[in-house]
Amino acid sequence: MKVTLFAAVSVAISGANAAVGMWQQCGGINYTGDTTCVSGAMCYKYNDWYFQCIPATTTTSPSSTRSSSSSRQSSSTSTRSSSTSSRSTSTSTRTSSTTTTSPSATISPLHDIAVSKGKQYFGVAVDSNELANATYKVLLDDRHLWGQMTPGNKMKWDATEPSRNTFTYSDADALVVWAQGSGKEIRGHTLVWHNQLPSWLTNGGFNNATLVSILQNHVTNLVTHFSGKVKTWDVVNEIFEEDGSWRSSVFYNTIGEYFVDIAFRAAAAADPNVGLAANDYNLDYGGSKVTAYVNLVNRLKSRGVKITQIGSQSHLIVGSMPSYSTLVSNYNAFVATGVDVAITELDIRMTLPVTDALLAQQRKDYNTIIRACMAVPRCIGMTVWAYSDYYSWIPSVFSGEGAALPFDDQLKPKPAFYGIVDGLNGITN
Ligand code: G3I
Repeated sequence: MKVTLFAAVSVAISGANAAVGMWQQCGGINYTGDTTCVSGAMCYKYNDWYFQCIPATTTTSPSSTRSSSSSRQSSSTSTRSSSTSSRSTSTSTRTSSTTTTSPSATISPLHDIAVSKGKQYFGVAVDSNELANATYKVLLDDRHLWGQMTPGNKMKWDATEPSRNTFTYSDADALVVWAQGSGKEIRGHTLVWHNQLPSWLTNGGFNNATLVSILQNHVTNLVTHFSGKVKTWDVVNEIFEEDGSWRSSVFYNTIGEYFVDIAFRAAAAADPNVGLAANDYNLDYGGSKVTAYVNLVNRLKSRGVKITQIGSQSHLIVGSMPSYSTLVSNYNAFVATGVDVAITELDIRMTLPVTDALLAQQRKDYNTIIRACMAVPRCIGMTVWAYSDYYSWIPSVFSGEGAALPFDDQLKPKPAFYGIVDGLNGITN
């Protein structure tokens, strides 16, 4: 099934009796409401499933902005604010497209393809601000593209328990409501992490017994609150160093290894049906870190602690990928312990500026990791860490790098997108 984006646009510039408001849905498969927009708006076809009322004012074609896209992209990483300003320009350009637009891109339904090939989902990470971007949200809403969502920040400790035993869920709840309304299962991210902790916790100087009770209280409260909504939790995140030793954290330093048992046991008690994962980066290359997780799963199971999945974040680098066979071998090593595997935060960054050669290599690299997951039956799904380069975390952390996601900062699919599609279909690029 193929969907044409920016294809011949269905336009209905309305009169005074129009029923559908600006930015509201006005058509698409399974849509049964009014199809006429309010005065000044037109019904714009984004894809077969979603038409939206947008301002009917200008005649700019999105495809005419294509050539300026890469230069903006390369400069967008110098500062976040310059990226933002270029994005708002591109957004207004895109939303004001009209019937003059010619076909420029084809969007295949990643989630539907993944499911048809035996996976549980293809998903995307989302943050609250992204839901306020009507243009970005069009593809985000598409349940055929993304059937799963992970909140990028709003379920973390600093967001959910900013003061001790005071829990704030409004942002996370809004993401959950949206995800449920757009056909996406939810991954909880994350219960216990050394990062994004509130200062009351990191600076509290708590002794072992008190920190155990704080940990149990936090895990129990979150898992209970989202019970029946979250499918799988990242119970612990990034607990090992590259050499397989324990990462220093307030939890490990105070409680020792058993903070992991405590967190998993509390989560399982709060929701016996939820999936329970350990999640980390750099599990793609094999070696000590992979061995550390294999050993941890075995120890947890020997102690009667439930763990159901290893999440491999897969924040990768164009041209520096592990081989297909290494990826498959890692996934199989986890599966051999009796757990599932998921690719949880996929992005593949490059050194800017973007070039055609880098985009071509990035396509191959996405294709490689997707094929590896497809080759392992218990690799259950894949999630990209946002879908467009505009919302990527990379430029703010890795100076001079970016363009890591399958859609560019104009929301147009890159070669990487088609590498994913081919990978899902078992086609080698
Ligand atoms: O919310 C504040 C805002 O109020 C403030 O004005 C702004 C100023 O910089 O900061 C905002 O917080 C930022 C937050 O994202 C929300 O946007 C933090 O500075 C920023 O550090 C934080 O970055 C997040 C990062 O985790 C923190 O470590 C990224 O968005 C998020 O994508 C990233 O996700 C992690 C996964 O959880 C674990 N694996 C690695 C992955 C990438 O780092």
